[in-house]
Amino acid sequence: SAQSEKYRPIYHFTPPTGWMNDPNGMVFYENTYHLFYQHYPDSTVWGPMHWGHATSENLIDWEHQPIAISPDSLGYIFSGSAVFDVENSSGLGTSENPPLVAIYTYHDMEGEQSGKSDYQSQAIAYSLDKGATWEKYDQNPVLPNQGIRDFRDPKVMPWTFSDGKKGWLMTLAVSDRIQFYSSENLLEWKLESEFGQNQGAHGGVWECPDLIPMTAPDGSEKWVLLVSINPGGPQKGSATQYFIGDFTDGKFTPDDQLIRWLDYGPDNYAGVTWANTPNRNLFIGWMSNWLYAQVVPTETWRSAMTIPRELSLFEVDGTLLVKSAPAEETLQLRGSSFELDKLQSNLPSEAVEITAEIEDEEAFSILIENEIGEKVLITRDNGLVSVDRSLAGNSDFHPDFAAVHSAPMSWEANSLRLFLDASSLELFINDGEMVITSTLFPTEPWKKIRFSENLSTIKLHNLAEIN
Ligand code: FRU
Repeated sequence: SAQSEKYRPIYHFTPPTGWMNDPNGMVFYENTYHLFYQHYPDSTVWGPMHWGHATSENLIDWEHQPIAISPDSLGYIFSGSAVFDVENSSGLGTSENPPLVAIYTYHDMEGEQSGKSDYQSQAIAYSLDKGATWEKYDQNPVLPNQGIRDFRDPKVMPWTFSDGKKGWLMTLAVSDRIQFYSSENLLEWKLESEFGQNQGAHGGVWECPDLIPMTAPDGSEKWVLLVSINPGGPQKGSATQYFIGDFTDGKFTPDDQLIRWLDYGPDNYAGVTWANTPNRNLFIGWMSNWLYAQVVPTETWRSAMTIPRELSLFEVDGTLLVKSAPAEETLQLRGSSFELDKLQSNLPSEAVEITAEIEDEEAFSILIENEIGEKVLITRDNGLVSVDRSLAGNSDFHPDFAAVHSAPMSWEANSLRLFLDASSLELFINDGEMVITSTLFPTEPWKKIRFSENLSTIKLHNLAEIN
């Protein structure tokens, strides 16, 4: 019924039914973006994990595919990545038809429940038909547990050994640190180094890492290490921190001791980038938070992904930071566009993008309301950008949901892009130099929006008209 689909986003990816968490195995192959995801199709809460699957040619229109990888006697299928093994280094395909290879974590639920500590290991599945069907490798696991309970979420990328030989690098979350493993064939892995025991935020376990080479504004090559952490995020619960540094001879060295957060909102977790997209760092995150993900008021499914974002480096007062801009593909969502009145405008649909210039960088505000007085307030003041969802409707499902989420932004704010959908808000300042992602569950759809005086060229783009 329509009621059971309340809060279903119009342009964000959601599972057809059932539970979803982390994005997994994102790989671009033959003009198709593959998105796999942590999925339990039989319930709207977390359970035996599968890899759900969807494909897209433009990162916007997603087509659901059959479940790609299902749990078996070795365990649940936890998060991981996928690569195109173009030279058939694994021997799992042929040189005429090299395989797509997925590297995931087995989570042995019985092992965990019986008190063992070796219940997580890394394993492989491969596809010889462009990602349509997946075969598990018959000698799994490829990286058995090394005696540490939390040992998961392998992110694999092509890598060149110091002697020039081509191979692979695995970035793995291991409890309170990252381990880097190398391989020539995706099947045998060797520990190269560890990072992070005394670096960064440690309010919770480290999960879902990603190592991404990026070019700094001065042209130098930097390595960005994303590490999701749960709990211990800046807004409580789960969040993604990152490090910037160098990666040489299999070892990551951070430039400084700064703690950096990819998104200051409460609802962007476990995000990583697509494999096999040369020169583009395309990112998508799980738009929820482990604090309340399993109790949010949606009926037939739970969770959505963020909009696709493109990561790059920028500099503020000599400090490098990562910005997350809406991927340019999101422009395809725009239907009719018109200028908005500052004082009060009506929203034509639940799915809109708002763009504005910020004239006086000191302070601004945006108020979004529905017809029964529920509201979200976005402000910038005294170097803080805030999204206040404390009066934004449905929130009694968790005591921490109704809150104000603030982020320090000491530098000039010149422009903003705001994406609203049926149950979310994504705020990008200066095209992603500051991002706040929040889920919202208003009792009735947002209807009105008001802007402070110093916002100008305010435009509304209806995102509900395409398709
Ligand atoms: C992160 C995470 C991963 C794990 C998966 C299980 O949200 O906890 O570390 O692989 O979810 O579903």
